[in-house]
Amino acid sequence: MTAQDFILKSYNTNIEKGSVKWSSPSNIALVKYWGKKEHQIPENPSISFTLSNCKTITELTYTKKEGDDFSFDVYFEGEKNEAFKPKIQTFFERIEQYMPFLRDYHFKIDTENTFPHSSGIASSASGMSALALCLMSVEEELGGDYSNDYFNKKASFLARLGSGSACRSIEGELVVWGANESTESSDLFGIPFDGQVHENFKNYQDTILLVDKGEKQVSSTVGHKLMYGHPFAQQRFSQAHDNLAKLKTVLTSGDLETFVKIVESEALTLHAMMMTSMPYFILMKPNTLDIINRIWKYREEHKSNVCFTLDAGANVHLLYPESEQTAIHEFIETDLAKYCQNEHFIHDFAGKGSQLIKN
Ligand code: DP6
Repeated sequence: MTAQDFILKSYNTNIEKGSVKWSSPSNIALVKYWGKKEHQIPENPSISFTLSNCKTITELTYTKKEGDDFSFDVYFEGEKNEAFKPKIQTFFERIEQYMPFLRDYHFKIDTENTFPHSSGIASSASGMSALALCLMSVEEELGGDYSNDYFNKKASFLARLGSGSACRSIEGELVVWGANESTESSDLFGIPFDGQVHENFKNYQDTILLVDKGEKQVSSTVGHKLMYGHPFAQQRFSQAHDNLAKLKTVLTSGDLETFVKIVESEALTLHAMMMTSMPYFILMKPNTLDIINRIWKYREEHKSNVCFTLDAGANVHLLYPESEQTAIHEFIETDLAKYCQNEHFIHDFAGKGSQLIKN
């Protein structure tokens, strides 16, 4: 498919108003997206677990209007929010060519997260995917008659234009985004991993250890730009291709030992890229390192398969098979919670993706 396939050609101009509502989860990358080209095209393919509990719920109300401007209001947890507007304005500008009805309506965007706003959990993936899904439901109301497959692909395509990683939040439990020799995947949207997934990876657990709940030190927009002219960029992009190919085999064979190695190496590579860019950043905190060392010790002593991954920040995602849930919960409570801000962590697990709440 090409971007042309996502252009809405005609629609019913007689619909006055309506409202739709979706929930969409966050996701956690195993092979990381870090570096992009123009139009939100990733430099390398990535794969993630879609989460279940950490999600955004968005209601979109649309009312026919006069005039040619984009018109929208954003309410976050019931309060009018101006801070989100520039990102949504950019999003509308990017997707307008695929959704020509955007200037015909005033939109009220009413949104909330199931996770605390100041938790350091990136809400752009869940937020942008929820908004993209709402807009797709509006498009259907205006006459689009779509297969489930097309609907999800276009929702993912649009979400990507809001925030790259958001394109991996539409479906679950594992989503691949980015052209890669070993799958049908595309740079334009995410698709569910098409291989057989071994029992070991069913309901995979992710506990987010909130080491630092503050604002991100480096925004992802700035972060991705650091890969332009980065001395190790090409090597890193080709490594991501290799890691994705290896991980696919592992997801089918159930080889947890190799899974741990690939996932932890990806997380550390992401941070290594930030440490070796110009300007350079260290986004881990002392407690991040303490947690990593505790995980390595625990794994050694208990023959466990628990491992960590990181986003572009200090928080740690603790990943482990469902079969180890009881033991790892105890490990978190007795040993890891003290490294988290206010001992705060969130239990989550791999899920099925977005859900329509109201049409
Ligand atoms: C480190 O999707 O937030 O979480 O496309 O600029 O919105 P934009 O970036 P974003 O980048 C996420 C990067 C990451 C790794 C990942 O999720 O793959």
